[in-house]
Amino acid sequence: MTAPTHTAAEVTVGPVTDLTPGEGRTYAVQGRQVAVFLLADGTVRAMDAVCPHKAGPLADGQFDGAAVTCPLHQYVFAFDTGVCTSDGVPAVRTYPARIRGDTVYVEI
Ligand code: FES
Repeated sequence: MTAPTHTAAEVTVGPVTDLTPGEGRTYAVQGRQVAVFLLADGTVRAMDAVCPHKAGPLADGQFDGAAVTCPLHQYVFAFDTGVCTSDGVPAVRTYPARIRGDTVYVEI
């Protein structure tokens, strides 16, 4: 008997027209609050929406192509790893995200 393994499933988040370049948006995806960001280059990034420091709304943070800054205390979280640049703050979980056609998908 083999141990159960978790396989990420691609989940539809919503139409890309819901997103505005330079702004994040929080979605409920399979019981998680996921922040999705539309970058200036037209690609998307996704991570858990709640800042692990003191629960700030990461979707409301400023971001560039590499990271988002939490709006409450300005801690910075990398899109690729979820790692915070400040010592002692846990990483957030990140999710592969993509646009296909007119729809945004994340892998949960
Ligand atoms: S709540 Fe996000 S940095 Fe403090």
